[in-house]
Amino acid sequence: MLVDSFGRKHESLRISVTDRCNIRCFYCMPNENIQFLPREQILTFEEISRVVDVAIELGINKIRLTGGEPLVRQGLPDLIRTLANKPGIQDIALTTNGLLLPKLSQDLFSAGLQRLNISLDTLREHIFQAISRREGLQRVLEGIAAAKSAGFSNIRINTVSIPALNEEDIIPLATFCRDHDLHLRFIEFMPLDAEQNWNTASVLTGNKVRERIEEFFGPLQSDDSQNAAQPARDYAYSDGRQRVGFINSVTEPFCGSCDRLRLTAEGCLRNCLFGLDEWDLRTILRGNGTDEQLQDLFRECVSKKKAGHGSDDPTFTRPTRAMYQIGG
Ligand code: 5AD
Ligand code: SF4
Repeated sequence: MLVDSFGRKHESLRISVTDRCNIRCFYCMPNENIQFLPREQILTFEEISRVVDVAIELGINKIRLTGGEPLVRQGLPDLIRTLANKPGIQDIALTTNGLLLPKLSQDLFSAGLQRLNISLDTLREHIFQAISRREGLQRVLEGIAAAKSAGFSNIRINTVSIPALNEEDIIPLATFCRDHDLHLRFIEFMPLDAEQNWNTASVLTGNKVRERIEEFFGPLQSDDSQNAAQPARDYAYSDGRQRVGFINSVTEPFCGSCDRLRLTAEGCLRNCLFGLDEWDLRTILRGNGTDEQLQDLFRECVSKKKAGHGSDDPTFTRPTRAMYQIGG
């Protein structure tokens, strides 16, 4: 089992399948001059599958596929089918910007994908463009509709809340999500933007967002029925229609209950989004290494996990990788 020195048991693995993306959100990617990983450095589906087999042996039972944008990876439904068929995997989810959902929803659902998180920061096209530096709001909305018709339920919407930029979208997004039976979650902007413009003034806190929601919809009721390891604090609206969550990663770090490990697209294992260390599985995978060697690296990675990321600490050092290079 993967238990760290603070007693946290690790059951969840987030797998980045690509560092590429079809848009350029300022809180994640640079706008231009991006050095994407050369194709041969990215793990193949066979390599990912082997890593997952090893991880299952060690107690991992939940998988989330991330990127970059995971849906730009060719043939992704094939990987999902392989992973979903592994008896040790209880939950398989994907985080996407939604742009390719009109095309891929049906294949993803048929392949056995269980859950979807779709990013949506605004309902206004000009703000979508200000954030993602590309066009596409309409396609994301079509993608959400396509995912629902394909059979996905309990879809979550991720909104990164940014002062001024999308503050006016808080109530419209909440209303939209209630009307379309979507579970909205607001995420605080974390210092993982490639251009390193983040500062504390660029965080619209989850508490402020919650106040706005309560001013409009009335008091929210804390909903503690959720699994403790999940980062969001969820609340029910007083009329019982849908829930809304807050991932206050900056102002209220949830490291104490973290059960996650991360695999980057090029095969490095990380024990924290903000960590500075990585454990290179690819060299073992491509060098005729054994499953025991892979297991040892997993154990080593977990044993070195720190108590918390400390991004609220004045001495905090940013990781050298940006969000799209880690996988969120
Ligand atoms: N801070 C907070 N959330 C971020 N995301 C990407 N970059 C950041 C950041 N710097 C979100 C995306 C997506 C998920 C992968 O993480 O909006 O929902
Ligand atoms: Fe792409 Fe997601 Fe990063 Fe936006 S946050 S640039 S959609 S990977």
